Amino acid sequence: MMEPTPVPDLKTIATDGFRLHPDDEAAMREEVGHFEQPQAACIEALKIVQRRHGWVPDDAIPAIARVLNVGPASVEGVATFYSLIFRKPVGRHVILVCDSSSCFLTGSDQLRENLAGRLGIGLGETTADGRFTLLPVCCLGACDGGPAMMIGDDVYGPVGADDLPDILEGYP
Ligand code: FES
Repeated sequence: MMEPTPVPDLKTIATDGFRLHPDDEAAMREEVGHFEQPQAACIEALKIVQRRHGWVPDDAIPAIARVLNVGPASVEGVATFYSLIFRKPVGRHVILVCDSSSCFLTGSDQLRENLAGRLGIGLGETTADGRFTLLPVCCLGACDGGPAMMIGDDVYGPVGADDLPDILEGYP
């Protein structure tokens, strides 16, 4: 008869490649206190890690799970679902180009091509100097101003080719 697979003790899951900053751990614990179910704090916990590191490495998942006292799969599921959680290193500034229907109709393809031409990178790539990463995103909620894009917390739209130099200059 096969032995049952032991359930891992979250406290022993290796997170050696990643250490939560004590301030971040404290912030996560505070977040958990706002919800009845600790899973509800997953997205905020991931954002906390991303704010400090720029992205969320694989080793951060069990570290977050341990603090929230949930299974790593719960954290992984949320991290995979939300496109604004970055699972690979990104540039100092992430440019998110909306590819949803309203922006498509108002020229998101052209905006993406203009950005790609100006930066010399395609979607999913980062400039050689590490300044910008270009990614597609679903609706940014700025549909009446398409084609729209977002850099950091700033939403722009409608963005024409002539607007790009001034906009990009604001992100050294
Ligand atoms: Fe582009 Fe909504 S469709 S912002």
